[in-house]
Amino acid sequence: MKKRIAIFASGSGSNAQKIMEHFKRNTEAEVVLILTNNPQAYVLQRADNFEIPSHVFTRQEFYESDDVIKMLKTLQVDLIVLAGFLWLVPPSLLKNFPNKIINLHPALLPKYGGKGMYGDNVHKAILAANEEESGITIHFVNEEFDEGEVIHQSKFKIEEGDNLEMVKFKGQQLEHLHFPKVIESLLKKMKS
Ligand code: GAR
Repeated sequence: MKKRIAIFASGSGSNAQKIMEHFKRNTEAEVVLILTNNPQAYVLQRADNFEIPSHVFTRQEFYESDDVIKMLKTLQVDLIVLAGFLWLVPPSLLKNFPNKIINLHPALLPKYGGKGMYGDNVHKAILAANEEESGITIHFVNEEFDEGEVIHQSKFKIEEGDNLEMVKFKGQQLEHLHFPKVIESLLKKMKS
């Protein structure tokens, strides 16, 4: 049986798009559900384009009910991928999917992680600190923001004159290139 992936995203979902593209014709795994906390998120349109079911949940549903867990269990999800998902994962979800939830972060953790460190905030902080390089981190999720075991990192150079858009673009290129492949190799290593 193919491995089954669920993606959580809060916004545009360009990474979700790359993952859906990558696994569209894959014999080993498939994306079975897109979940979001944001009814306006463009990722919902992307899910529709791929004819992949989606679900929007409220804060109350996510933190005070088992609805999301039940849905993931019913769909027999093997791996949960956070791709630009901005809420902290509740302990109940972690307990039900141990070592099966991974996150993408737009910096070289442990630098520039933690609460409030997402999207542009991360790149602004990196530029303000005059860093010479940045990159991406893919890691397992635990109870804290951006703190689980690192699975993959890749880096890019920050050249003199690089602005926010440029740094964001360089990071996004790496994300789109590596995230689907890292997911594929992780799934291969996971016991069924
Ligand atoms: C990505 O750059 C991802 O690294 C970041 O959100 C962006 C989502 O973009 N995640 C975080 O900042 C998590 N702390 P996308 O919606 O276009 O995939």
